[in-house]
Amino acid sequence: MSVPRHVAIIMDGNGRWAKARGLPRLKGHEAGAESVRRILRAAKKFGVRYVTLYAFSVENWSRPPLEVQGLMKLLQFFLKRNEHELHDNETRLRVMGRRSDLPRAVDRALADLEAATAKYPDRELVLCLSYGGRTEIAAAARALAEDAAAGRIDPASIDEQAVASRLYLPDVPDPDLIVRTSGEERLSNFLLWQAAYAEFYFTPVLWPDFGEEDFKAALDAFAARHRRFGGVDAPSGGKS
Ligand code: IPE
Ligand code: IPE
Ligand code: MG
Repeated sequence: MSVPRHVAIIMDGNGRWAKARGLPRLKGHEAGAESVRRILRAAKKFGVRYVTLYAFSVENWSRPPLEVQGLMKLLQFFLKRNEHELHDNETRLRVMGRRSDLPRAVDRALADLEAATAKYPDRELVLCLSYGGRTEIAAAARALAEDAAAGRIDPASIDEQAVASRLYLPDVPDPDLIVRTSGEERLSNFLLWQAAYAEFYFTPVLWPDFGEEDFKAALDAFAARHRRFGGVDAPSGGKS
């Protein structure tokens, strides 16, 4: 059975989960943080090497200030609470997004944990924070323009690799599988460049309810897909 090397998840539905229980939205985000722990363990169990989580988009800054503050506090708490979990699972933490937008204390906590876990080569957790796919691509375009203006590169030499190498985490392979919870079926500005040949899996399950069995169901669905990357199936009929 083919296991995706990289699963990226749009963790959606925390607010609706809370609303259905008559709770404030932040309670939904707290419950969602518990799902993250479960999924990290499941990723290790099933042999998924990279897990990318869409935790906060550039557009999410437009939410009410109290929700944004609550989310930033929750993130700090999450990092503290899961430090040992990352070490136990030998997982390297990475961050992608416009980091300068984040509160200083959050950025520092992230940087500390990134440094402390950089020694783990076999598993990575990528947290997307103040992340936007268009922002990421625009930043890469700016970097290319600066390189060209300074004479470091010839504009005629700019190809896909030149763009890809200027994205936030160029060494992380493209996601094989993108999961979105809560029944929404859209990308919401997630990994626009990297999603070119990803398989998609949508589930109505709300993120706080998403557990190991749901993760396994997504992996099973992936294993049944035929990826062709624009080519044709192998003559043997084997799946890639
Ligand atoms: C996803 O849950 C978490 C974040 C975007 C931070 P939502 O907060 O979007 O939950 P819904 O979509 O309102 O249910
Ligand atoms: C996408 O969810 C962003 C994250 C999961 C962090 P949203 O809830 O913000 O997306 P829309 O607004 O429904 O498209
Ligand atoms: Mg949402």
